[in-house]
Amino acid sequence: MNAQPSESLEKIRQQFDTGPYPRVPLQTSPKGDLNLLYFHNLVTAYYRRNQKVADTQGKWILDAGCGSGHKALALAEANPGAKIIGIDISDVSVDLARQRLAYHGFENAEFYAISIDDIADLGFQFDYINCDEVLYLIPDIHRGLQSFKSVLKSDGIIRTNLHSSSQRYTFYRAQELFKFMGLMEDNPGETELEICRDFMQAVNDSIFLKARTWDVKHSGRDEWVLANYLLQGDKGYSIPEMFAALKAADLEFVSMVNWRCWELRDLFQDPDNLPPVFGISLGEISLEQQLRIFELLERRHRLLDFWCGHHQGDRPRVAVADWTEADWRRATVQLHPQLQNSQVKADLIDCIASRAAWEISKYIKDVTPHPVYIDSRVGACLLPLWDGPQPVMAIVRRWGEIAPLDPVSLEEMDEARAEQVVRELLVKLESYLYLLLELSA
Ligand SMILES: C[S@@+](CC[C@H](N)C(=O)[O-])C[C@H]1O[C@@H](n2cnc3c(N)ncnc32)[C@H](O)[C@@H]1O
Repeated sequence: MNAQPSESLEKIRQQFDTGPYPRVPLQTSPKGDLNLLYFHNLVTAYYRRNQKVADTQGKWILDAGCGSGHKALALAEANPGAKIIGIDISDVSVDLARQRLAYHGFENAEFYAISIDDIADLGFQFDYINCDEVLYLIPDIHRGLQSFKSVLKSDGIIRTNLHSSSQRYTFYRAQELFKFMGLMEDNPGETELEICRDFMQAVNDSIFLKARTWDVKHSGRDEWVLANYLLQGDKGYSIPEMFAALKAADLEFVSMVNWRCWELRDLFQDPDNLPPVFGISLGEISLEQQLRIFELLERRHRLLDFWCGHHQGDRPRVAVADWTEADWRRATVQLHPQLQNSQVKADLIDCIASRAAWEISKYIKDVTPHPVYIDSRVGACLLPLWDGPQPVMAIVRRWGEIAPLDPVSLEEMDEARAEQVVRELLVKLESYLYLLLELSA
């Protein structure tokens, strides 16, 4: 099946054959980029949906529209033991991706120069599909989603994203302008890049389109100009369009990938005293309605970046903050795999020694709109987590040993108070998935 009109597919293929994306040197390793690895680790998506920690060993991962393979490499690094399949319509990009994974020693990876429309022909089924910065280039996103669905295992998860029409509307206007000037009839090359640059430089700095889009810091980079002013097939979408495409493909929305950065209450002066919407409290309207209000109020997100999957039926998911006493007593806690890192532990120990607050968000920052600090003395009760998962009650006992006395009354700290301190810390860190909490049977 090849549903995409061949002319537009051909233009996109040519553009990425000429300039494979991203232009990251082959030798560059994402190993130290914990933020990138966190979002490419299927543990993050599975926990977000199922509140369970998945094992990456033996999982099948598809990178659809893998480009030059930088994200496919991140998927391989973040998911030890997983099989990586990358596909892209650009042969040049696929060759680069293949070389990149081989250079970094990943043998369990295969790459194919095919279209998203044809992935079912591979005959594979996937646990996780990553389709980053691609779906907005496809003429019919609903067909693209259906294609993914046809190769997704029953409990698999898709991560994909669309350009936001409201955030990017000035760039769409610029693309219209350069289409009108004939720069996008064929694959934009050196000449078109030069005309585009000369034109924008000649426009008065105060003119709307230049003031809103032209960035002298980036304008010298071909990749930036191509990706914003001369991108073939680029389209923007709204939250209702995203949900309509999911409905048409019969897929279930799981979450925005940067969910904490879509919190509606963060846009209000007093987050604890929100105005009513549709006659009810803002917290009670549907998630889709909340996201819609967010995008109408604020245009900070270039991408509508989301996870989705097959419908899972009614699974009661009780937020950790609402756990019962009995739940807490049978719960275990572990670090997100990306924080299970000796440097992160060394930083916490340094903060404990110098009595400084520990900025846990500096390792995985895109999950939060604000830096997240914790009191390093309380954080000291987390140190056993670098040895592996722990019962929550073991962390509570450790806190009792660290702080045996109430600092005001000098009376012995009771266990209930110790539990409260630890639970508050765990609930806070779990909301960013820095810590993962599970209930044992
Ligand atoms: C902006 S790049 C993104 C590359 C990579 N996913 C990343 O985020 O680094 C878009 C890629 O999608 C590929 N692409 C576009 N339409 C496609 C389609 N219908 N099937 C397969 N690949 C496609 C392009 O060739 C290009 O390599």
